[in-house]
Amino acid sequence: FSAKQMDLPLEGKKVLITAGPTREQVDPVRYFTNYSSGKMGYAIARAAAGMGASVTLVSGPTALEKPAGVMFIPVESTDEMFHAVMKEYPEMDLVIKSAAVADYTPRIKYGEKVKKKNESWSVEMEKTTDILSVLGEKKERQVLVGFAAETGNLEGYALDKLKRKNLDMIVANNVAQEGAGFSVDTNRVVIYKKDGSAKEYPLLSKDKVAQEVLAQAMELMPL
Ligand code: CTP
Ligand code: CA
Repeated sequence: FSAKQMDLPLEGKKVLITAGPTREQVDPVRYFTNYSSGKMGYAIARAAAGMGASVTLVSGPTALEKPAGVMFIPVESTDEMFHAVMKEYPEMDLVIKSAAVADYTPRIKYGEKVKKKNESWSVEMEKTTDILSVLGEKKERQVLVGFAAETGNLEGYALDKLKRKNLDMIVANNVAQEGAGFSVDTNRVVIYKKDGSAKEYPLLSKDKVAQEVLAQAMELMPL
């Protein structure tokens, strides 16, 4: 290897990262979302840019600063994220889906604010598109990496997603564990690859986890 390749191991590679929550509107003043802060995905975007990749970050709403040197595509809903990701996908070498995508969206989006005239309000929800599953179906040369946020049976659920969504690798974390999951700056993950290998990490900073995720994904990429 030349010194350059060692410093910039992702030079010439196009990497797509999704991050943050998605937001599903029910009326002009209300929405459904989740606790994702976006920190894990932004850390991966920064790390990939630092390794020389050409990085596209598709992000739901977060309080974070846009990382320098990445192409930034802000989105709100799952549907917007889906369309942004599908447009970029054919060009990509590596896709890392760390976003916490809303699984359901209100069936009806009211054009006007819903007034509190009734004693209760039931909002009917319908499933959103599973973006990662569609990417898995349409996969060509891309290396596809998913995340799995679980509160139990980490291995079982993660391996099921790895297989069902046709992924090359999945980063599983137990979000009920201290120091892992949403909002905090640390994470504890297990990385499963489609060859059956599993690697368990101790509690690390999200920046360190990002380096590891990229190092493991790089092993799956053609040179
Ligand atoms: N994902 C996605 N589109 C969705 C839901 C999830 O692309 N509509 C992706 C996430 O970005 C993540 C992976 O799928 O990389 C797993 O997300 P997770 O919420 O853990 O799994 P689900 O398949 O949604 O199943 P469940 O929430 O029931 O565990
Ligand atoms: Ca989900």
